[in-house]
Amino acid sequence: MERTLTLDDSSIGKKALVALTGLVLFGFVIAHMLGNLQVFAGPEALNAYARGLRKLPGILWPMRLVLLASLIVHITASLALVKSAAAARGVSYRQKQSSATSYAARTMKWSGPLLAAFILYHLAHLTWPGVPMGAYRHDPHDVYANVVNGFRVPWVVAVYLAAQGLLGLHLYHGAWSLFQTLGLHHPRYHRLRQVLPRAIALVVVAGNVAIPLAVLMGVIS
Ligand code: HEM
Repeated sequence: MERTLTLDDSSIGKKALVALTGLVLFGFVIAHMLGNLQVFAGPEALNAYARGLRKLPGILWPMRLVLLASLIVHITASLALVKSAAAARGVSYRQKQSSATSYAARTMKWSGPLLAAFILYHLAHLTWPGVPMGAYRHDPHDVYANVVNGFRVPWVVAVYLAAQGLLGLHLYHGAWSLFQTLGLHHPRYHRLRQVLPRAIALVVVAGNVAIPLAVLMGVIS
């Protein structure tokens, strides 16, 4: 009995950590998307934005540290939750989960690790060390050129589009689970819970896929 209580308590704490760090990461994804959309305003706008960020190391580095810490806590707390759920399944009677809940949990289990792999690939591609994925040179001082040259390569665009699909699923189920963690099951929130996670996922995916697609289709060059 005592053991079950301890597990449950820590699981609530872990869920809260996953939710909190998820919100920080979500804030970054929105801000990053809005910043990147400046590519549509031309090279000067995007490069000035990137230069502006680098000129503020007192803000940039603390933000990067918060982001990295949030990512690490988000991943480790999620893994611990998956592990304790598996352990609980092993010792207790089979509990009937709603199909929506178990579908969300299953999706998170594979979309999470794949997204982590995408982030590593994306950093290597566009940030550090800046690996050119086609016949061009990466220029750390010309973010616009790196984006345009990078997305002229169809297989790179395919990787980014697939990753945005994953991100959309992850955000959708993440937002859906957040309602659960916050205890917002009341019928009053039913409509909001139906609409908000979908809207969030759709806006982020649309904003992010617009960039590689625009380059590939020659809208941005
Ligand atoms: C098609 C969509 C995306 C585009 C065009 C894009 C573009 C970029 C570019 C150009 C940089 C380098 C910025 C610089 O050197 O100043 C960058 C950095 C980064 N991106 Fe993205 N990105 C996209 C999607 C994402 C997604 C979905 C994530 C995370 C889930 C992400 C996470 C990051 C991170 C963590 C950095 C490093 C930020 C830093 O240096 O502090 N990006 N991205």
